[in-house]
Amino acid sequence: MKSNRKKTAPTSGKGAKGPSGNLIRGRFARRRLLEVEKFTASLPFDRRLYRHDIRGSIAHARMLARVRLLTRAEAGRIERGLKRIEREIASGQFVFDLSDEDIHLAIERRLTQLAGDAGRKLHTARSRNDQVALDLRLYLKDEIAEVLKLVEALRRALVTVAREHVETVMPGYTHLQRAQPVSLAHHVLAYVEMLERDRERFEQAFRRTDVMPLGAGALAGTTLRIDRRFVARELGFSRISENSMDAVSDRDFVLDFLSAASILAVHLSRMSEEIILWTSAEFGFAALPDEFSTGSSMMPQKKNPDLLELIRGKTGRVVGDLVAMLTTLKGLPLAYNSDLQEDKERVFDALDTIKPALDLLAKFWPRLVFERRAMSEAAGGFALATDLAEYLVGRGVPFRQAHDIVGAIVRETAEAGKSLGALTLADLRRHSQAFGADAMEMLRAETSLNRRTVAGGPAPSTVRARLLRLGR
Ligand code: ARG
Repeated sequence: MKSNRKKTAPTSGKGAKGPSGNLIRGRFARRRLLEVEKFTASLPFDRRLYRHDIRGSIAHARMLARVRLLTRAEAGRIERGLKRIEREIASGQFVFDLSDEDIHLAIERRLTQLAGDAGRKLHTARSRNDQVALDLRLYLKDEIAEVLKLVEALRRALVTVAREHVETVMPGYTHLQRAQPVSLAHHVLAYVEMLERDRERFEQAFRRTDVMPLGAGALAGTTLRIDRRFVARELGFSRISENSMDAVSDRDFVLDFLSAASILAVHLSRMSEEIILWTSAEFGFAALPDEFSTGSSMMPQKKNPDLLELIRGKTGRVVGDLVAMLTTLKGLPLAYNSDLQEDKERVFDALDTIKPALDLLAKFWPRLVFERRAMSEAAGGFALATDLAEYLVGRGVPFRQAHDIVGAIVRETAEAGKSLGALTLADLRRHSQAFGADAMEMLRAETSLNRRTVAGGPAPSTVRARLLRLGR
């Protein structure tokens, strides 16, 4: 392993390595305690931002050249140096040193080795406070775009399942008790609606992240004449921050992302829980695909939904990331405080949880094999009671009275150990003369489904119309 530092040309200033490598030692007579260095460093995790840090620095250098704080030649040396550093980090050649504190100083130190005095000019009119805000925003913009693609892939997988099961009857539940017949398509499309809202939330988080903070300096801007709008254009930001103190202390965009991620995670968790139920022997609505299941170390017969359980379980992490960030921010005075350094691990952790969860669920759904017979059987019987009551309403019976009549029919039938499907017209008419021959039709789950054509309802015709509007 080669060390970057060994090749360091002597720089101005005297004495041994200072508290932050070679870069910011002027103020200090003695070296920082190693334990302190270890506790306060963000380098072990913020190196994940290196590409964005370099992208930001190249834009900053180009701007400095534009406003003549750098010569073109200096800016060129900086840009070439930064691109080389990017290759060094990507290939694993770059030697990280904890005394650099964070990725910003690590890259800057190496740049001074590669580009000499030009490198020493890069941090002109910049602070790590606005630099890290920039890096995180650049990073999150890229990542939110990735999350949106994954949300879309899952959405498409669900729409595909829905399309195949517009006529697949299953019981809908309230209180986890069989309630009324729905279709599998209608059930699955409920999750599509959730994902539509998730998409909106991530798009909104993206817009709040899309603000360029560089130029805020440490907190109070700079006396140097820089061109912030140029940097924003270079980096593809649609706005610049309007207040330098807010720019370095604002992490609302992190909260926006984490809350969108938390709500998404809750949706994925509910979806997972439901599939866990469906694939249990008690429900028997679907079979777990082998590729997505795990065995038991003791019980030879077991096929476990570990993946789904862990998507459900890891929701706690994402919600925890949000709560941790809210808690970190709540007592902070303006402007930058080191507490803010805690933001990055929360963002990384949430991303590392929701991205694979989305991806795996999108691959899981098409492999789930449904047991149409079991679902349809479970959808019949007492789940049709409301349809019988609504039939009576159609015959002029006030709903409360219809509710009573059918309630009595259900009680009697249940006590006799029978199901609604076993009733004859005579049985019905003993309870109300309003029942005609067509009432028997109401005792089929398919009829019940077909008649629920209300906007937003589960009837196949309504669901097909929704599918059409949802597109692919
Ligand atoms: N490592 C810091 C962070 O992650 C960068 C900004 C540090 N600024 C400072 N003055 N210590 O937030």
